[in-house]
Amino acid sequence: MDTLVKISQPIAAELEQYKELFSTVMSHGNDFLGGALNYIKQRKGKLMRPMMVLLMAKEHGEVGQKALISAVALEMLHTASLIHDDVVDESGERRGQASTNRAYGNQVAVLLGDYILSLLLRQTALTGDLRIVETVSSLGGTLSEGEIFQLSNIERQEVLEEEYYRIIRHKTAALFAACAKLGALSSNADETDVERAEKFGEIVGTCFQIRDDIFDYYDDNRIGKPTGNDLMEGKFTLPAIYAINKCADEKIWKIVEKVKKRTASSDEIADIVEFTKAHGGIEYARNVMDEYRSEALSLLQGFSNVDVRHALTLYLNYVIERDI
Ligand code: IPE
Ligand code: IPE
Ligand code: MG
Ligand code: MG
Repeated sequence: MDTLVKISQPIAAELEQYKELFSTVMSHGNDFLGGALNYIKQRKGKLMRPMMVLLMAKEHGEVGQKALISAVALEMLHTASLIHDDVVDESGERRGQASTNRAYGNQVAVLLGDYILSLLLRQTALTGDLRIVETVSSLGGTLSEGEIFQLSNIERQEVLEEEYYRIIRHKTAALFAACAKLGALSSNADETDVERAEKFGEIVGTCFQIRDDIFDYYDDNRIGKPTGNDLMEGKFTLPAIYAINKCADEKIWKIVEKVKKRTASSDEIADIVEFTKAHGGIEYARNVMDEYRSEALSLLQGFSNVDVRHALTLYLNYVIERDI
């Protein structure tokens, strides 16, 4: 059976309810706006974030309306951030189809992202739970901070591992942490359990982005979005950061400078990719994920629902080992 289906087994019925609500909220009677929302909806992602919300809600009680709304709001925030991210990254493909900016242009893509943001904030208000409203609304800011830190980091001469972690904590891990937190909160988990859930989510999210960044060093058309883009945009990720700081000679540092100025040729970018692979950058990033995996597994020890614990173990392994 498909791993994602296995992960969703303890929450299969609730995930169907989630899909219905997501589809209802992401719609509009106007032909153009409704059509654009349908275009976005017709290609689903892996649903990692809603699955995290629902599994955490299940661990701490029953999956109710608050958990469903949180799952919808957080997947919508993810969707809006991808639409804007593709504008910023000038990327033409998302989820195996033309990105929103490619299909509708930058102007519509920016406005649609904003519209989705407004729809999802309204959903959180409907829960009447200020903790949910507060978490989701400040999370929107955190994701933007991550994208902005990433852009400003390109201007910096050095390639710093700590700066990389700061960026991915904001742009990716914070979203997974919020999913886990709101799942637990929705089931009225006590403070210690909410914190444990949040920590688990943060570790998963960190691994998720590290794995995603490794994709970029390989050609693979199965993942439904372009690879090889990060260096072209001047962005150094964990494997290259490690290899460069450990072994770069003058020639490599010269190319690093050009990558950051976006004047490197495609041969020079290929040189950095080769250099990274030859100096253990990919292995290093995989080892980092393995350390995180041990920490996350020990957090799961305390979980009482055996099915949820099993599903979250699969989830964690999938995030680290996935091919798409
Ligand atoms: C893509 O996330 C954005 C990153 C954090 C790397 P996903 O790979 O979860 O995207 P979908 O929702 O499955 O398309
Ligand atoms: C992920 O950024 C998008 C957000 C977390 C907002 P990336 O630019 O690294 O992700 P992809 O590769 O486009 O999915
Ligand atoms: Mg991108
Ligand atoms: Mg980006």
